[in-house]
Amino acid sequence: MPQVAVVTGGSSGIGAATARKLAERGWSCVLVGRDEERLRAAAEPLGAEWERCDVGDREAVERAAAAIGERHPKLGLLVNNAGVPGRGGFLRASPETIEAVTRTNYLGSVWCLRAFLPLLKAAAPSDVVNVVSVAGTVASGSAGPYTASKHAQLAFSRATRAELQPLGIRVHTVLPGFVETPGFPQRSRLSNRFLRTLIAEPELIAERIVAAVEHDRREVVVPRFYRVAPLAQALVPGLVAWAGARGVRPSGD
Ligand SMILES: NC(=O)c1ccc[n+]([C@@H]2O[C@H](COP(=O)([O-])OP(=O)(O)OC[C@H]3O[C@@H](n4cnc5c(N)ncnc54)[C@H](OP(=O)(O)O)[C@@H]3O)[C@@H](O)[C@H]2O)c1
Repeated sequence: MPQVAVVTGGSSGIGAATARKLAERGWSCVLVGRDEERLRAAAEPLGAEWERCDVGDREAVERAAAAIGERHPKLGLLVNNAGVPGRGGFLRASPETIEAVTRTNYLGSVWCLRAFLPLLKAAAPSDVVNVVSVAGTVASGSAGPYTASKHAQLAFSRATRAELQPLGIRVHTVLPGFVETPGFPQRSRLSNRFLRTLIAEPELIAERIVAAVEHDRREVVVPRFYRVAPLAQALVPGLVAWAGARGVRPSGD
């Protein structure tokens, strides 16, 4: 029997690439997202299932987990990947944008973990991957609501690793830098030629997600050179603020 993985945001970008990689490895995937057309298009070539759900809506997540649990009482892997950009600072972004970014990027991971926990426990040893961002480790001011949602998601991911270990559930944190995806079109957005050379493809992040599960990696920064970002934030916050003021962000928003 193949193991079952739920990939939120599995209809696009990093989530879709992760589902493809998991399917190659013999996993049976259930893709979660809001848009039915995109879900079907991503799922069908993989022989995967899909479930329409807004991860920021707690009751909808509980209903989706119950429906998936009816078909699959054991869940080997949950990838909390669904996310939206949130351009603009705390004053320029609309209140609705700030709420949506927080609900999706941070609370979406919380609601999914809680709702799928019984299925993950039933499959233990099992795994959870939280797709955070390098933006979860540095705050430059230019994309404040997104950055704050990713800081919260990183804290959630680190805290639940310890909380779930006794249950036989391993939590892994993956922190990508700039990645070219439909939701985060970095190439057209970044005017700086040097920054454009840093852009990765979703397949690279997908590879690292699968490797994090297979080798039980606690935290993975992709590409690795972004590991200087949290060090810079801790040691030279003035320099990070200066770079942020000039529009040099360490990761996608
Ligand atoms: N691309 C980057 O530069 C970058 C860098 C660091 C971290 N990340 C993180 O990587 C993750 C994936 O992003 P991506 O770049 O692959 O973006 P993407 O191509 O836009 O994919 C986002 C996926 O999330 C789904 N989604 C969005 N809001 C949702 C909601 N409320 N409920 C359920 N599904 C939802 C989307 O489908 P629907 O819209 O149909 O729901 C889509 O499948 C995000 O968490 C993002 O923050 C991205």
